[in-house]
Amino acid sequence: MAIRPHAVVTGASAGFGLALADALVAAGWRVTTVCRTPQPPAPQRTRVVGDVTDPATARALAAATSDIPVALLVNNAGMSGGRAQLGEVDIADMDASFQLNVVAPLRIVRACRPALAASGSALVINVSSRLASMARQAADHYHQAERRTSYGYRITKAAQNMLSIALAHELAGENVAVWALHPGRLTTRLGMAGADMSPEDAATDAVRLIARRDHADLRPRFISLDPRECPDGGDLPW
Ligand SMILES: NC(=O)c1ccc[n+]([C@@H]2O[C@H](COP(=O)([O-])OP(=O)(O)OC[C@H]3O[C@@H](n4cnc5c(N)ncnc54)[C@H](OP(=O)(O)O)[C@@H]3O)[C@@H](O)[C@H]2O)c1
Repeated sequence: MAIRPHAVVTGASAGFGLALADALVAAGWRVTTVCRTPQPPAPQRTRVVGDVTDPATARALAAATSDIPVALLVNNAGMSGGRAQLGEVDIADMDASFQLNVVAPLRIVRACRPALAASGSALVINVSSRLASMARQAADHYHQAERRTSYGYRITKAAQNMLSIALAHELAGENVAVWALHPGRLTTRLGMAGADMSPEDAATDAVRLIARRDHADLRPRFISLDPRECPDGGDLPW
């Protein structure tokens, strides 16, 4: 019997993370999920229970992956993070967003690094957002005045993109690629008005993309699962 490749997905209790864990199992992976709330047992799944912003969760994940190579790590756990106007910004919200979107993925990658390297050819996906694109936001491509995305979300997802670039450069020597991924405008708790893609469809597309990836390509990439974002077929601008 073929050995299933092993993936880790954070924030897999709902939305895109839950759909992605299901789609990966259906495609022949075994999945370790990281969730704040305990999830019922399910075939081909190992559970690590914990908040991703808690260093103890990263330690538990390091222990859970110490003797199982990880071919795919998806830092998906996310939240929307506070207010969109300068005068309303709550600094505690900003700090929480930075911990969740930047510090936690860094810590989780560090915890999984030996297992990623052990797989021989691994991929880290940091779930980002089109709203993290500095180039697009500078041109007001997304009409911020109408969308009112929070300061915390825009700033910390952009910082997470820089984390993806930094990790890609450092981990290329270990044959680990790192992508930032915009999953689409999803009909999840986090989704905005006008969201029109189910997390299940996005997860199916993500699994296809992962299966087709060029293992020799270790460039940092900012990929959109929504083709409308990149009509020329390329990546999102950083
Ligand atoms: N929805 C969209 O249109 C959209 C667009 C662009 C990017 N994204 C990104 O896609 C990712 C998934 O979002 P979603 O739309 O699927 O939202 P969602 O349905 O709200 O799911 C978010 C997941 O993250 C988990 N989570 C949040 N904070 C956590 C923490 N501190 N520790 C552990 N788990 C935590 C949640 O767990 P609980 O159930 O315990 O809260 C839940 O499982 C996020 O990174 C988001 O920024 C979404």
